[in-house]
Amino acid sequence: MGAFRWLSLAAAASSALALTPEQLISAPRRSEAIPNPSGSVAVFSSSQYSFDTHESSSWWSLLDLRSGNITVLTDDSNVSEIVWLSDSTLLYINGTNAQIPGGSELWVSGLSGFPSGYKAASLPASFSGLKAVTTESGDINFVAYAQSYRNGTAYNAELAATYLSSARIYDSIYVRHWDTYLTTTFNAVFSGTLKKTQHSRYLAAGGLKNLVAPVPNAESPYPPFGGSSDYDISADGKWVAYKSKAPDVPQANHTTAYIYLVPHNGSETAVPINGPGSAPEGIEGDSNSPVFSPNSKILAYFQMEEKTYESDRRVLYIYDLESQEIGALATEWDRSPDSLKWIDDKTIIVGSEDEGSGNLFLIPVQEATGDFTPSKLTDGKYASAFYQVSNNTLLVTGSTLYSSWYVDLVSLNPERGTLKTLVSAHEIDPELSGNGPEDIGEIWFEGNWTDIHAWVIYPEGFDENKTYPLAYLIHGGPQGAWYNSWSSRWNPKVFADQGYVVVAPNPTGSTGYGDELTDAIQNNWGSYPYEDLVKGWQYIRDNLPYVDTANGVAAGASYGGFMVNWIQGSDLGREFKALVTHDGTFVADAKISTEELWFMEREFNGTFWEARENYRRWDPSAPERILRFDTPHLVIHNDLDYRLPVAEGLSLFNVLQERGVPSRFLNFPDENHWVTNHENSLVWHQQVLGWLNKYSGVAENEGAITLEDTVVPVVDINPPA
Ligand SMILES: *[C@@H]1O[C@H](CO)[C@@H](O)[C@H](O)[C@H]1NC(C)=O
Ligand SMILES: *[C@@H]1O[C@H](CO)[C@@H](O)[C@H](O)[C@H]1NC(C)=O
Ligand SMILES: *[C@@H]1O[C@H](CO)[C@@H](O)[C@H](O)[C@H]1NC(C)=O
Ligand SMILES: *[C@@H]1O[C@H](CO)[C@@H](O)[C@H](O)[C@H]1NC(C)=O
Ligand SMILES: *[C@@H]1O[C@H](CO)[C@@H](O)[C@H](O)[C@H]1NC(C)=O
Ligand SMILES: *[C@@H]1O[C@H](CO)[C@@H](O)[C@H](O)[C@H]1NC(C)=O
Ligand SMILES: *[C@@H]1O[C@H](CO)[C@@H](O)[C@H](O)[C@H]1NC(C)=O
Ligand SMILES: *[C@@H]1O[C@H](CO)[C@@H](O)[C@H](O)[C@H]1NC(C)=O
Ligand SMILES: *[C@@H]1O[C@H](CO)[C@@H](O)[C@H](O)[C@H]1NC(C)=O
Ligand SMILES: *[C@@H]1O[C@H](CO)[C@@H](O)[C@H](O)[C@H]1NC(C)=O
Repeated sequence: MGAFRWLSLAAAASSALALTPEQLISAPRRSEAIPNPSGSVAVFSSSQYSFDTHESSSWWSLLDLRSGNITVLTDDSNVSEIVWLSDSTLLYINGTNAQIPGGSELWVSGLSGFPSGYKAASLPASFSGLKAVTTESGDINFVAYAQSYRNGTAYNAELAATYLSSARIYDSIYVRHWDTYLTTTFNAVFSGTLKKTQHSRYLAAGGLKNLVAPVPNAESPYPPFGGSSDYDISADGKWVAYKSKAPDVPQANHTTAYIYLVPHNGSETAVPINGPGSAPEGIEGDSNSPVFSPNSKILAYFQMEEKTYESDRRVLYIYDLESQEIGALATEWDRSPDSLKWIDDKTIIVGSEDEGSGNLFLIPVQEATGDFTPSKLTDGKYASAFYQVSNNTLLVTGSTLYSSWYVDLVSLNPERGTLKTLVSAHEIDPELSGNGPEDIGEIWFEGNWTDIHAWVIYPEGFDENKTYPLAYLIHGGPQGAWYNSWSSRWNPKVFADQGYVVVAPNPTGSTGYGDELTDAIQNNWGSYPYEDLVKGWQYIRDNLPYVDTANGVAAGASYGGFMVNWIQGSDLGREFKALVTHDGTFVADAKISTEELWFMEREFNGTFWEARENYRRWDPSAPERILRFDTPHLVIHNDLDYRLPVAEGLSLFNVLQERGVPSRFLNFPDENHWVTNHENSLVWHQQVLGWLNKYSGVAENEGAITLEDTVVPVVDINPPA
């Protein structure tokens, strides 16, 4: 087995393929760059998996913001998070606790010789999301989160009580969410203080306060994806704000969330600033990203209007802590920003999806009334994190379709744009060498009812006078999009480099192009987006001479998997040589087995019993559609996918096999809606690319992946031919 792997790696390395799955999976993955207070240097973390040792390693580095030079700070993996206290002092979470198994510690260290400091606090559980400010008295007030019991005690998995039976008992939905069965514990934000001692050391004083548990049913951050952007601590250290799902409405069929405000010292129970009676009239949806202004007087946050629509437009609000008044900013702006920072007490920067990119925009609070349109600061990449590093400059971390990580200096003057790229992964990582901006293009085509945008990703060594089979990639959501950003799952460049031209369209339902395109998919899962995809395919056939549509393939996950299943029973299905469905829906009525009921009830405009005709309208499993199934189809579905349970994939595979359609079922018992384990990801890529390559003819290309690259044996009990 080992020798076989070695041979396949050697073959890949000597081929002309720029980005192989191994290279994608084993390239360094880096965090945002967090600048020091004076803006001269930034700290970031990296992790990397090795297919030689089959282990991951992680380390912290410093980025010099003048030269772009990178130096390693430490490879001590006990250092899990770092916060700057000053240019020369760092506070960090140490993942080991000397006294409490399963606990953690806060340590303080100088920058030089890091980590070489002292323990400032013992934490009784595993904590993350550290945020810290220095108060007027010189003490440090911090917040971080952990799992909690309802009585407020932090939950420590290593010390928790266990029961002799494995039974789980529920009196309310959800029962499970994403990949986890709900338990009696939940996320909670805790606050604490490190007192400055006479010897200028910091030492924990007064213990931790649980700021969430006193509110019955509250939880923050919100799982599975919530993190430290779900809460904030004011610059003066006096206040904490956090987001929680509304505890007063059923959670599984509403998106409603409130922003809570609470004194850092926990002297009072947190109160919602935008709960019933205090939110602007008619605003009942999800709220998130609370951020205090530098003077600690104003709290900015986003909120959606509808109480069951997770893809409604986010609007920026500001709450005055003194007057308790709420104001809305840039209300007519047809974008849905999802990150924000104040740069001074009068100006907010927001990050938003924007026509297939992730751009930053400037919002001067006083001017952002009426139909104000924010000015764009960045253009065309995907900014995922940003910090102010001087009066007129931001430090921006992001990615593109050709590079997993970049750090730019961006001017706060919209006319100046990006000032300098300090570093970009495709220029420093051998795994990504050969990638560059020349790998990508864009098209706009006339769709079903409006113009549609698509990214085009070219293979390594692309020659416009040759032809390459089309790989048509369909995104999930359906309210989502293909962006000019990097992904370690469904990375279009990896598909392209097998020898395809990848086209990644953003049809009806996609986000980042305004509400109308996003919202039009309600009750229209199989109509407008399908017609958009047909029009896109025809556009490619008629206008991109280097694309071989006759040998094209299509693949998608989640809603993209639904669409591939829909295509299998439609005319467009006959135009592809092979299809791949990853964790997609198949049987219309099975949708009720999902966990986030608000999603289906908004998509199909009613409950399962009131609006069943809407649920059934676009049913890929309808008999007349099944009778048309004919294109070789790989079905992937994972056991821990509780969003779309594994029965969906099994149902599809049963039908394909009974209909005699060439098909294969790939299952990972330990993966959820996504495949994230490195070794599983390698097999996923071998099977997906191997399947597509087999039927498109790309398998003939030197170095292309084949199904035989996978060492896991295939179960086949078909009768002998
Ligand atoms: C950055 O690194 C280069 C090459 O190692 C070196 O020549 C240069 O002096 C470094 N610059 C700074 C400011 O450290
Ligand atoms: C963390 O520190 C402890 C004590 O020094 C050490 O035993 C352990 O191996 C370290 N853990 C990691 C992941 O480095
Ligand atoms: C982490 O904490 C453990 C236990 O106190 C200690 O032995 C170890 O040296 C610490 N490591 C770092 C990097 O702070
Ligand atoms: C809170 O509940 C947990 C689990 O039942 C228990 O272990 C812990 O001792 C309780 N804490 C307090 C302060 O009662
Ligand atoms: C707790 O913090 C609040 C808000 O800053 C303050 O008004 C109150 O006096 C503090 N209480 C104690 C006991 O320190
Ligand atoms: C959500 O479920 C509750 C019962 O748990 C029900 O009363 C309510 O009408 C439902 N809300 C929506 C929006 O369907
Ligand atoms: C940056 O802005 C602050 C506040 O407006 C001002 O006091 C300071 O002089 C400015 N610094 C520079 C280098 O312009
Ligand atoms: C493609 O063909 C055109 C016309 O013959 C020629 O001008 C162009 O250089 C060719 N491109 C490449 C990359 O060879
Ligand atoms: C748009 O899609 C609808 C639903 O499939 C179809 O009835 C209509 O003909 C399409 N319109 C155009 C212009 O393609
Ligand atoms: C959704 O349902 C409501 C209430 O039944 C109805 O008024 C509305 O027209 C429906 N909207 C769509 C897009 O079907």
